Amino acid sequence: MESDKGTGVDPGTTSCRDLEEGIQRAFSRDMSYGDYLQLDLLLSAQRPLSDPPQHDELLFIIQHQTSELWLKLMVHELRSARDLLREDQLAPSLKRMARVKHIQHTLTDQWSVLATLTPSEYAQIRPFLATSSGFQSAQYREVEFLLGNKNEDMVKVFGHDPVAQAELTALLHEPSLYDEFLGFLARSGYAVPAELLDRDWSQPYRMNLALVDTFARVYASPAEHWGVYETCEELVDVEDNFQLWRFRHLQVVQRTIGSKTGTGGSTGVAFLRRALDLTFFPELFEVRARIES
Ligand code: HEM
Repeated sequence: MESDKGTGVDPGTTSCRDLEEGIQRAFSRDMSYGDYLQLDLLLSAQRPLSDPPQHDELLFIIQHQTSELWLKLMVHELRSARDLLREDQLAPSLKRMARVKHIQHTLTDQWSVLATLTPSEYAQIRPFLATSSGFQSAQYREVEFLLGNKNEDMVKVFGHDPVAQAELTALLHEPSLYDEFLGFLARSGYAVPAELLDRDWSQPYRMNLALVDTFARVYASPAEHWGVYETCEELVDVEDNFQLWRFRHLQVVQRTIGSKTGTGGSTGVAFLRRALDLTFFPELFEVRARIES
């Protein structure tokens, strides 16, 4: 083409792609993408309350809703990882944990989107949030319970939601992922104190020094205990990732509301900071001090 001479433009370049013959175009009888995913339901669930409408409320809603979707998958995977350990199926359980870790990365990375919300933008939507707070996230508590951070008081927060409360109550009384790992260890011939294998699962887990001794032997000879050693490190990764999420949340809260109290009624940043001292798998951190060079 004469006009393209010397410009370096390929005359074949176009912004339009022809649709192939075989591509399905009619869905009055067949299932479409939107049908399968129930997108009409999903995409109609963003209902900003601000009046007059505030531009940033949609961001706030979507950030929370996407977090809840990922939490849903995390609960699904953690339950399965735990149940597989109960059946002594270590390799498939590790596969589940690997996926959990990727979900955690996604959840932590997505804080950067909400961090674009300035304090003044948040202040515009704050009145419409009323007393609602992520503190009331049932799925977040399910994840915590599955990982072993049991707290009966948390269940009381869900009196308004009998389904969530029943789910949490059940999880409170079931062994956590770590409890099942300890059961697996005992069945595999490792020394696990009896009081850890048969206890009231609803009670918070407390560090056991005899178990640290067992892990110290594993960490002294990783090659001899590879499967157990690998699982210990996967669990440490999961805890590490959980703390990263908590820390990013704390940072976003700090830059958004500073020292103000939370919509859920807590002191805000001071309350959230105390969660950074929690640990799911205390012996796996304690054992690190026992490793000799
Ligand atoms: C600008 C955005 C946000 C602010 C200012 C904020 C603020 C807070 C505050 C102050 C608390 C303490 C409880 C309270 O008094 O309300 C809290 C708890 C919590 N928030 Fe957020 N949050 C934000 C975004 C999110 C998002 C996107 C999620 C995702 C699900 C989330 C999940 C949680 C959870 C799970 C807790 C309970 C943490 C715990 O018990 O340690 N928050 N939030």
